[in-house]
Amino acid sequence: MKGIILAGGTATRLFPLTATTSKQLLPVYDRQMIFYPLNVLAKAGIKEILIIVAPEHSGQFINLLGSIFEGAGIHLEFRVQKIPRGLADAFILGETFIGKDDVAMALGDNIFEDDLSAKIKKFEKGGLVFAKKVTDPERFGVVEFNAHDQAISIEEKPKKPKSDFAVTGFYVYDNQVVEIAKSLKPSVRGEIEITDINKRYMRMGELKVEKIKGAWLDAGTYDSLLEASLIVKKKEIYKNFDPAIDKAIIDFNLELKTIAKKRLN
Ligand code: G1P
Repeated sequence: MKGIILAGGTATRLFPLTATTSKQLLPVYDRQMIFYPLNVLAKAGIKEILIIVAPEHSGQFINLLGSIFEGAGIHLEFRVQKIPRGLADAFILGETFIGKDDVAMALGDNIFEDDLSAKIKKFEKGGLVFAKKVTDPERFGVVEFNAHDQAISIEEKPKKPKSDFAVTGFYVYDNQVVEIAKSLKPSVRGEIEITDINKRYMRMGELKVEKIKGAWLDAGTYDSLLEASLIVKKKEIYKNFDPAIDKAIIDFNLELKTIAKKRLN
C-alpha cells in the first residue's frame, strides 16, 4: 500500500501564521504538524509516501524532510500542487506514484490519538474511513449509521446533519480510487470532494466506516491549533510515535545542533 499526505493549500484561516510557512509545518507541541500523519502511515507499515505541497512551501518541506528518513526505511516523494482543487485531486496528482497499488491518504493537519495501524493493515478492498463523534458535525463530512451500526449516508458539510459523526481525514482505498477521482465533477465550492469518492464506494456497497474513540484534531484554526498542542502534551500523543520515526526526529535535532555549533566556532 502506498501513502499520500495532502499538505497543500494556503490555510487562509490561519493568516498571518501561514503567510510565512505551510500550516502543516507549524508546531504542534514539540514537532511539526506533518509528523503526526506521517507517523500514522509509518506505523501501518507504509514505506512509500508522497507528500503533496503548495509551490511556495516546497523548499521548506525539503529542508525538514528531504533526508530525515534515510535510515528509517521510508521513501518520500514530493509533488507540487499548483492550484488546490480539492482533496480528491490527490489521487489524480498521485496516479503514477500509486501505480497499481492500494493507497492510504492522510490530511496533513489531522492528529489521531488512537493507533489505526491494525485496521489499516487488515484492509482488503473498497474504501475504509474513520468516523468520530463531534459537537459541530456541520463543519465536516457527516456519516449516518443505521441501528446495526452500518453507514447508510454521507453528506459534505450538511446544514442539518443526520448524525454527530464526522468523517476524519484518513482514508484508505483500493486502486479504483484513481478512476473514481478522475470521473468527479467539482462541487458548488469548486472542489472535487473526497465525500463524493466515499459516496461512490458506499453505493457499490464497498465502504467500511470504523468509529474511533480517542482524540481527533484538525488543527485548522487558532483555537484548534492551540488545543492540538495542549492535547498532544496532556495525552502524551508524541510518545505514541513509531520508534524509527522518533529516532529520525531525535537524530535530526542532534544534526541541527552540531551544524549550529560548527557555525559558531
Ligand atoms: C475535509 C473533508 C471533510 C472531512 C474533513 C476532515 O474538509 O471535505 O469531509 O470531514 O476534511 O478534516 P475541509 O478540511 O476541506 O473543510
